[in-house]
Amino acid sequence: MRPSQDLVPTSAKQPSSGLMSRLRHLGLKPGAISLFFERLLKKQSTRTLIKMGRTGISKSRTGISKATELTGQELSTRAKQTARSIKHHSKPENLNKDYRKLLHLTQEMAYDRAIEKLFFVPAKGFVSLDDLTIDSPNRSFGHNYHPIHRLSFNWAMAQIPDPLVGFTFVDYGAGRGRALLLAALHPFRKIIGVEFASELHDDANMNIAQFPRSLMKCRDVDCLLLDAVDFPIPDTKGIFLFNDSFDREVLETVLARITSSYRANPRRMYLVFVRPLNATVLDNLMERTVIFEPIYHSQSEKMRMQILSPDQVQIFRTLI
Ligand SMILES: C[S@@+](CC[C@H](N)C(=O)[O-])C[C@H]1O[C@@H](n2cnc3c(N)ncnc32)[C@H](O)[C@@H]1O
Repeated sequence: MRPSQDLVPTSAKQPSSGLMSRLRHLGLKPGAISLFFERLLKKQSTRTLIKMGRTGISKSRTGISKATELTGQELSTRAKQTARSIKHHSKPENLNKDYRKLLHLTQEMAYDRAIEKLFFVPAKGFVSLDDLTIDSPNRSFGHNYHPIHRLSFNWAMAQIPDPLVGFTFVDYGAGRGRALLLAALHPFRKIIGVEFASELHDDANMNIAQFPRSLMKCRDVDCLLLDAVDFPIPDTKGIFLFNDSFDREVLETVLARITSSYRANPRRMYLVFVRPLNATVLDNLMERTVIFEPIYHSQSEKMRMQILSPDQVQIFRTLI
């Protein structure tokens, strides 16, 4: 049977004429000759294919082993990093820190949004005191700006057993005024912020000016550009907020002023510390004033704060 001409390679279709005549001379017919060449070339191409295949396989093997080497290295580095990170984050103190961070984000993104929407200048975020204009010898004792969480503020106000009417609310280190305007939702007699950084003081006053009056139960709100140590204590019942404001050096002076104002006119005063200094340091300072005692909270309220708020809150009140 004659092979199909398409399957026969070009070189097989035209074997050289000298070779053909010699093959004919040997008594081989042209059909048989073509078949012979076809088979020969087919055999050769199969060999070539096998050879090419082998080369391909050996080259891919080299590639695969190189890739495995590289990926393996990367994977082992990543695995080591992950293991280190798991070890770090599973330590009890870091678990607690991570949980606080998560609570902080949750508060900021969910609960604080309602009040944040009402501000002309956003109060959220963090500002380093290094970037601000501060004309005070106490600059180095001041803490960076970050606003109070609404939950912590509301929780603290709910812990005050007296009606808020008639109290003056003072925020030591008022920042952009979030605490002042949260306080304005309560029927205080007067609300005063004390802030020593010019830019934050300006932002707070802009926020006060633009805040919806219809929501304010106290409209007598003001922010003073002043160092906390220079603030004259109002001669009324008072709630004084310290949200992570400054170091012990400044707090001692402020407490001394509050205490002497109380001695001149004994009255009900509350000190609210959010994210207080070290608890023992604060307890010692407060004990030394002699006029303040801590407020104790019910177990369920303490639990609520521990579960929901990233902040610790401590409240003291005068003995009268
Ligand atoms: C953590 S922020 C609190 C902001 C605000 N009270 C609130 O809760 O939204 C602390 C603020 O205290 C201010 N501050 C620090 N030391 C101060 C001082 N000696 N006198 C007045 N303000 C001070 C800082 O500028 C900063 O704005």
